[in-house]
Amino acid sequence: MSNHERRVALVTGGTSGIGLAVIRLLAAQHHRVYFCARSAENVAATVKELRAEGLEVDGTDCDVRSPDDVRRFVQAAVDRYGTIDILVNNAGRSGGGPTADITDELWLDVIDTNLHSVFRMTREVLTSGGMRDKSSGRIINIASTAGKQGVVLGAPYSASKHGVVGFTKALGNELAPTGITVNAVCPGYVETPMAQRVRQGYAAAYDTDEAQILQKFQAKIPLGRYSTPEEVAGLVGYLVTDTAASITAQALNVCGGLGNF
Ligand SMILES: NC(=O)c1ccc[n+]([C@@H]2O[C@H](COP(=O)([O-])OP(=O)(O)OC[C@H]3O[C@@H](n4cnc5c(N)ncnc54)[C@H](OP(=O)(O)O)[C@@H]3O)[C@@H](O)[C@H]2O)c1
Repeated sequence: MSNHERRVALVTGGTSGIGLAVIRLLAAQHHRVYFCARSAENVAATVKELRAEGLEVDGTDCDVRSPDDVRRFVQAAVDRYGTIDILVNNAGRSGGGPTADITDELWLDVIDTNLHSVFRMTREVLTSGGMRDKSSGRIINIASTAGKQGVVLGAPYSASKHGVVGFTKALGNELAPTGITVNAVCPGYVETPMAQRVRQGYAAAYDTDEAQILQKFQAKIPLGRYSTPEEVAGLVGYLVTDTAASITAQALNVCGGLGNF
């Protein structure tokens, strides 16, 4: 496969859960994948692990909340592999509680991490990442079914993910004539370290244990179980193909039937 066919993909939040599964799949599709997370140690360990699997990946630490880090990250990716063909904005955090008790600090951090970062990273990839000069490209934002319906005790998270869906639809329409598609992938409940932290939070809020919360959540999902990170990555892997060229400005669920919207 030539370097032209091997496209360059950028993935944020790649050391865990959905981001890690996305990197594995994109690299298995023979793309060169550059990724980040805040922990440099975890990035180095993940690069080592994936290279041992024969995958072409590299990465560096970057906090997507930091405009300087975003610039440095995109430049490092271009220096390493060339201009960017695929961007997967995946890094995110949970966060909520009774809305009357939410601090400015928590609200702003959730919005900064989940929403402002998506705008800044996308702008940087379009400009210094070189995507806007290309005749095709793929931008995929990992939003959530919480970006389409309100989640109780999750107001900042739901607001941030609704923002991501709105950004995706607007930019998708804007860039449609250019050959760059922009879509959101909306997972429901996915078994990752974040999902475990979320269950802990609800167990504390409802004064119960995590097993009860797991049961309650599973009962809401028509499929009866959490999705896997690989199932979410599978849709990302499809959206980057040539066949997906006419899918743009969409927010597509991977949720075991949880969301019918
Ligand atoms: N799991 C679910 O049920 C679920 C459902 C719907 C949507 N989602 C969305 O899917 C995405 C991934 O979630 P996940 O469950 O895979 O989470 P996860 O297991 O907690 O992994 C998050 C990844 O993002 C990185 N990260 C977190 N904050 C970052 C920051 N400020 N800058 C750069 N990297 C950062 C983490 O590494 P460091 O901590 O080292 O930075 C880690 O690599 C998120 O956007 C989440 O909202 C998840």
